[in-house]
Amino acid sequence: MSTRELACAALVLVAAGCAAPARVETPNLGRPATAAEIAGWDISVGPDGVGLPAGSGTALKGAAVYEQKCQACHGAKGAGQPNDRLAGGHGTLASKTPVRTIGSYWPYATTVFDYVRRSMPYTQPQSLSDDEVYAVTAYLLQLNGIIGEPDEMNAQTLPKVTMPNRGNFVIVYPRRAR
Ligand code: HEC
Repeated sequence: MSTRELACAALVLVAAGCAAPARVETPNLGRPATAAEIAGWDISVGPDGVGLPAGSGTALKGAAVYEQKCQACHGAKGAGQPNDRLAGGHGTLASKTPVRTIGSYWPYATTVFDYVRRSMPYTQPQSLSDDEVYAVTAYLLQLNGIIGEPDEMNAQTLPKVTMPNRGNFVIVYPRRAR
């Protein structure tokens, strides 16, 4: 064997030696997640509304959901206490005592839907139907004066809602070209 042939043979051995243990040294625990299990967790909704499910709701319906399932922790009409305040604070962000609520601070209405659907009520996350999440999202937007009481929120209308603080977020990383 020439020196070059030896070097190549060594490279092949190294390659084989590196690849093989990755296969045999798995702990052999668990099992691949099923498509249904993945679908259960694959519920992200993008700022532009991609991923929003079918269904709809209005503030009127959402008020009932809120009183029953949210008010104990967030206060009447989103006033807060014992947990986060969900309404008001508009125009306070640049002051010395900023009040950050979903209404005064959050840039996207779709994020309210996403957050509530995945994590609220705090003690029973993902227990609301999609209609209930649309309705309670509509109620929170209406409490903040962003939409009207009869406005129906669904996969088409929710992404079109412009949040008051939307324009004050600055993107500090370069956007990838599409
Ligand atoms: C058992 C108490 C409890 C209940 C009931 C509850 N929440 Fe919450 N909620 C919390 C807590 C605690 C937080 C803060 C969580 C954190 O920061 O990680 C929170 C945070 C939130 C936020 C984010 C506020 C912000 O500005 O960051 C929203 C929106 C919200 N809840 C909506 C709801 C809605 C809608 C319901 C009813 C469907 C609900 N919550 C029911 C305890 C509760």
